[in-house]
Amino acid sequence: MKKNIRIALDGPAAAGKSTAAKKIAEKLGFIYIDTGAMYRTLTYKALKNQIEPKNEQELYTLLMNTVIELKPGSDGQLVFLDGEEVTSEIRQQDVTKNVSDVALHQLVRTEMVRRQQELVKNGGIVMDGRDIGTAVIPDAELKVFMSATAEERAKRRYEEHKKQGIHSDFNQLKAEIEQRDHIDSTRAVSPLVKAHDAVELDTTHMSISDVVNKVTALAAERGATI
Ligand code: C5P
Repeated sequence: MKKNIRIALDGPAAAGKSTAAKKIAEKLGFIYIDTGAMYRTLTYKALKNQIEPKNEQELYTLLMNTVIELKPGSDGQLVFLDGEEVTSEIRQQDVTKNVSDVALHQLVRTEMVRRQQELVKNGGIVMDGRDIGTAVIPDAELKVFMSATAEERAKRRYEEHKKQGIHSDFNQLKAEIEQRDHIDSTRAVSPLVKAHDAVELDTTHMSISDVVNKVTALAAERGATI
C-alpha cells in the first residue's frame, strides 16, 4: 500500500520549487499544491478592487469573501478565483510586485494557513511555499528547503520567460527576486526560514531531474512508494 506522506517544499522566490514539486508529485502519484498561487490570487483580486496591499483589514474582508480553487490540469495546476480561471493572470508583473506585501499580514496568513491545512488532511501531497514546514504542516513527514543563489534564480526565471516569449530585463528580474526575498524573510509573521528539521538542498548546480531524484529518494526513505 502506498504511504500517503506529506512533503513540504519551501524556499526563496524562483528557486525552482514549483517545477520540481510538479514532477515529484507526478512521480509519486501525489497531488501538487502551489500555495504561492493562493497569495497571488488574493493579490490579483485586491488590485482589481483597488485595495491597498498595506490595508490588512480590507484584505482580510476581501479574502473572507473570496473562493480560491486549485485544480489539476493537463499542463499543471489551474487556478480559479470565484469560479473564473486566473492561472496566467496571477503571474502578471503587477501581481508579482505586490504579492509579498499582501502576504505579510497576520490576518491574511492565518486564513490562508487554515485553508491550506484543509487541503493536506488526507496526505499524498507535495505542497510548496515559504512557511509550509514551519506553519502549515509542522509535522510533515518530509521537509525540504530549496535554495540557490539570486543570480542563478534570476537566470532561471529569465530563461523561463524567454521560452514563453516574454522579454525581460535580467537585472530587473534579479532585483525583484531579491526584494521579494527580503520582504518574505524579514516579515514578522511566519518569515521564510528553514525549518530546523528540513533537509537543505542548494540547487545552484543541480538540474531539475537531480532535484526530483533527490527528493523522491528522501520520500521513499520516509515510506512513500515510487
Ligand atoms: O511561490 P510564489 O513565488 O508564487 O509566491 C509568491 C509570494 O507569495 C511569495 O513571494 C510570498 O510573498 C508569498 N507566499 C507566502 N507563503 C507561502 C507561499 C507564498 O508568503 N506559503
